[in-house]
Amino acid sequence: MPVCWLNGSFVAEQDAHVSIFDRGLLFGDGVYEVAAVMNGRLLDADRHLVRLARSLAAIGIPNTQPAAEWLGVMQQLATDNGINEGLVYLQVTRGVAERDFPFPVNATPTMFAYARPKLLEHDPNANGVRLLTVPDMRWTRCDIKSTSMLAQVLAKQSARAAGAFEAMMHEDGLVTEGGSSNLWIVNDGVLQTRPLSSDILAGITRDVVLELAHAAGVPVRERAFTVAQAKGARECLMSSATSFLLPVTKIDHDLVGDGEPGPVAQRLRAAYLERARALTR
Ligand SMILES: Cc1ncc(COP(=O)(O)O)c(C=O)c1O
Repeated sequence: MPVCWLNGSFVAEQDAHVSIFDRGLLFGDGVYEVAAVMNGRLLDADRHLVRLARSLAAIGIPNTQPAAEWLGVMQQLATDNGINEGLVYLQVTRGVAERDFPFPVNATPTMFAYARPKLLEHDPNANGVRLLTVPDMRWTRCDIKSTSMLAQVLAKQSARAAGAFEAMMHEDGLVTEGGSSNLWIVNDGVLQTRPLSSDILAGITRDVVLELAHAAGVPVRERAFTVAQAKGARECLMSSATSFLLPVTKIDHDLVGDGEPGPVAQRLRAAYLERARALTR
């Protein structure tokens, strides 16, 4: 029976309940994180918790649980649920209050977390995935990892309905990011991704990929690119905590490059896996 954690207690998932007056439910008034688990151990959870603190501060939810306690909870969820390879999801909402848009006074944040198995190292999508281009319909603070995600739900549903793995969101043809991933292209051996701003989420995996590229001597350019440039690129890649780094081999109905995972994607994915194995050994 899977065990989750809710407001300070480990409980069976089927016994974990929140109020219908929780602002996460009423308004999507909350933030979240997803960290990978490899070899039964958390990967880069410390970085995810730094971003959690930033997201909480950005929307004025008190950060009542120190990172060290979150780490303990997250690791125990992975261990107690027997997760060797997978993820831990956590969410903090502004809490339970009578429905009213402005912040309630003295609400206690709702906090919960759960764990799930997922193939990471032997992800079949490492053979290449297809993206569907969709307009980015989100708000202007995409740097906050908010649980208000209707635009991404619709984007990723469109992708799935079209048989694609992920959405490539764009604003008037300029790529922002994936529905739940950061996007990259490669031309002439140069790795390119959109610079950080409030238009995209600062992916933890994005950060790590930049470090790995630097270490591997792969030149990087942080500059936005268009859908047309992505379709015409030698390689395209997506990154996220629970996909690591995946080659994008098709966008809409167009093959990227020769339609096979490219050398930079394969090299960086291998470097990512090597780092992940080393950190979770
Ligand atoms: C919109 C968006 N961009 C990028 C990412 C990738 O972030 P990370 O590498 O921290 O998982 C995510 C992850 O969920 C996301 O939702």
